Order: sequence, then C-alpha cells, then structure tokens
Amino acid sequence: MISAIVYTSETGFTRQYAAMLSEETGLPAYSLDRVPEPRGGREIIYMGWLAARGIAGYPAAAARYKVRCVCQVGLDAPTAHSLERTRKWHNIDPEIPLFALQGGLDINKLHGAYRLMMQAWRKKTIAQLEKEKPLDEQQRFLYNAARFGASCVKRDNLQDIIAWYHTVE
Ligand SMILES: Cc1cc2nc3c(=O)[nH]c(=O)nc-3n(C[C@H](O)[C@H](O)[C@H](O)COP(=O)(O)O)c2cc1C
Repeated sequence: MISAIVYTSETGFTRQYAAMLSEETGLPAYSLDRVPEPRGGREIIYMGWLAARGIAGYPAAAARYKVRCVCQVGLDAPTAHSLERTRKWHNIDPEIPLFALQGGLDINKLHGAYRLMMQAWRKKTIAQLEKEKPLDEQQRFLYNAARFGASCVKRDNLQDIIAWYHTVE
C-alpha cells in the first residue's frame, strides 16, 4: 500500500505539486531529505524536478523505497520522447507509471552552479528565439520563461496521477 509522497524540489514547484497531490489523495508528502522515520522499503509516489536528463533524487529514492509511481517536473512541455528518455536514463521498469508535469522557472531561487547553468540557458534561449520569430506557442512560452520566469503549476495538471492513484489505493 502506498503510504507517502516523497519529493525533491530545488525552487518549490515540485513541492507545490506534492502538497496538492497530498491534499487530493490524503497521503503525507515529505521532502526526500526530511522523511520522518525513513524506514526503507515503504511504497511511495516519487516526484522530482528534471535536471538535464535525470530526475533529481530519484536514484536515492529508488534505492531506499519501493517507488510505485514516478513524476518528473520540468520546465518544458512534457512529451512522449522526454518520458522515454527519462525511463531509459533511470532504468525505470515499464510497469511503473511515469508522469510528467510542467513546473516553472524562478531564477532568484536558484544558487551556485544551477543558477549559472540557467543564466546561460536564458541567454542562449532569448538570443536563439529572437532570431526565429514568429514563435509557436511552446517557443513563446520558453521565450517568456527565459525573460521573466514562469509557473505552470495548477491542480488540474494532477488529474492523470490522481486517476491512476484511485486505481491502486
Ligand atoms: C540545472 C538545471 C537543469 C534543468 N534541466 C531541465 C531539463 O532538462 N528539462 C526541463 O524541462 N527542465 C529543466 N530544468 C528546469 C526545472 O526542471 C524546472 O525549473 C522545475 O520546475 C524545477 O522544479 P523545482 O521548483 O521543484 O525545483 C532545469 C533546471 C536546472 C536548474
């Protein structure tokens, strides 16, 4: 039986989703580094932010818990290709559902290397997309996110995960 949602969040978007999913399912939500009584082997839903190819914290969570469902939170609009890539990267069993949610970007909450990497991404994205106008919807989103930041967090995005949870609870 799934007993908790465990998450890793750097700037808060994944934490917001975990809190909403907690309200919707009644499961407690804990940050991976602050799980009370971190007993190994318990069944969990794992949510983590997307950092390049991987999901932050997933290897540690998978080593400690029985992960029944994984959810990646990235800035880009989720695609079947990005899910496939994550599944391969982390060797996630085909029987374990993998969901993708769109988080956001808040550069002010990033520090150190992550901040430098996203500053470089912003510069590159703005310069590249300025050359490509007119932009499609996704390009416009990324352009605005690079310039001003963005949040795509909304409860509605959790519908598929909630529907899946009700099939297994
Ligand atoms: C170093 C770094 C790498 C990232 N790589 C990706 C990526 O490959 N794909 C993507 O969609 N978002 C990527 N992002 C964006 C984050 O996944 C996004 O901002 C996410 O919502 C952060 O969630 P959090 O607020 O829970 O930390 C990256 C962010 C950082 C800082």
